[in-house]
Amino acid sequence: MLQFYSPPSASSSIHPFRSLVFLSSLLSALHLSLSIPNKPHFGSNFVFIGDAKFTNNSSCIRLTDPRISSPSSGLIVLKKPIRLLSPNSKSRKPVSFSTDFTFSISPHNGDGLAFLVLPRNFQSKFSGESFGVLKESRFLGVEFDTLIDENVGDVNANHVGLDVGSLVSVKTSNVSSIGLVLNSGVKLHSWVDYDSSSKRIEVRLSKFGSPRPYNPLMVHQVDLGEMWRNEEVIVGLSSSTGNSMQTSSVYTWNFRTRDVPQWLHSQPLDPQAFSREHSEEKLAQKRKICALGFISGLVFLTGCGALLALVVLFLWALFENSSETVLTIPGKCTVHSGDFRYEKINVVVRDSPTDAKN
Ligand SMILES: *[C@@H]1O[C@H](CO)[C@@H](O)[C@H](O)[C@H]1NC(C)=O
Ligand SMILES: *[C@@H]1O[C@H](CO)[C@@H](O)[C@H](O)[C@H]1NC(C)=O
Ligand SMILES: *[C@@H]1O[C@H](CO)[C@@H](O)[C@H](O)[C@H]1NC(C)=O
Repeated sequence: MLQFYSPPSASSSIHPFRSLVFLSSLLSALHLSLSIPNKPHFGSNFVFIGDAKFTNNSSCIRLTDPRISSPSSGLIVLKKPIRLLSPNSKSRKPVSFSTDFTFSISPHNGDGLAFLVLPRNFQSKFSGESFGVLKESRFLGVEFDTLIDENVGDVNANHVGLDVGSLVSVKTSNVSSIGLVLNSGVKLHSWVDYDSSSKRIEVRLSKFGSPRPYNPLMVHQVDLGEMWRNEEVIVGLSSSTGNSMQTSSVYTWNFRTRDVPQWLHSQPLDPQAFSREHSEEKLAQKRKICALGFISGLVFLTGCGALLALVVLFLWALFENSSETVLTIPGKCTVHSGDFRYEKINVVVRDSPTDAKN
């Protein structure tokens, strides 16, 4: 199972190597995190649709601008399409994704902002209202809604809703219940995570600068692998003003996908054969551990020590770097702490399937 997380050449199921493999994967994660401060907040990876454009010296993206057109609507999508079923194996693996973005919505009652998963050819169907999806029947949306529209069953003018192919949300959550107001003009940070093994989508929201909340604001079960099959989709952030003067801005956006190892979600065809196979596997594993005995334990402990030292170094470098960023880019949105937190979470995510197998 380690092969999934390490280059094929490093594949080994022998215990002492496990910590080494993990160390090397941590190192590559480290490299990723620490190189982020040198990158711009937004690369050239976006397509701007409608009224969306860079503002404030390219530090932010304004999705709507009612002073230019009314109603105003704008969408940014990642250039690179993704698939929610990985195409590179015979038994197609469902793909999980994690995204987080920081945004603000001005104090008017417009439609707010939405994270969207759309068919690849969506662009030509983009319209000026309701997040631009009125002409599209196939989409997934997480809306941050600041308007009560009774036609679509909205609960209040401050809610998060999950839309599957329709603006009538399949699930909504009251943002007032966590003490936040979407259209206060204050910067907010949201995390949307889809886990393909449990088929759950989770939405979290906090004030910008606060840590990622432990409890999601909204959880819903939806099978995106089933919904999109092997089709290419694009992901985007969209906003529309309705009849209001609302402006919505986006300051940072991270998006990443990951495959899930087959064993995490596959259903055994013959449960008895599966458990037989499993107990044999366990027995073999036990023998192996006994044989390696003391030495493997020692090596493993040494690995743990090195790991701890690395984590301390990592955290130190992190704080060094983030304060440096704040100092060297004055006048820009200071947004890197969010990026770092995201990367740290990833280190944990990479680790857990290995643990689960033990
Ligand atoms: C915009 O950003 C560039 C590069 O960071 C900087 O050189 C320039 O002075 C900034 N302009 C304004 C008006 O802030
Ligand atoms: C949303 O939450 C607030 C604060 O807890 C509460 O006063 C309000 O009635 C709730 N609204 C709905 C529609 O549940
Ligand atoms: C634009 O940048 C300035 C600093 O240059 C900052 O004070 C202001 O809040 C930014 N505006 C937005 C909408 O982020």
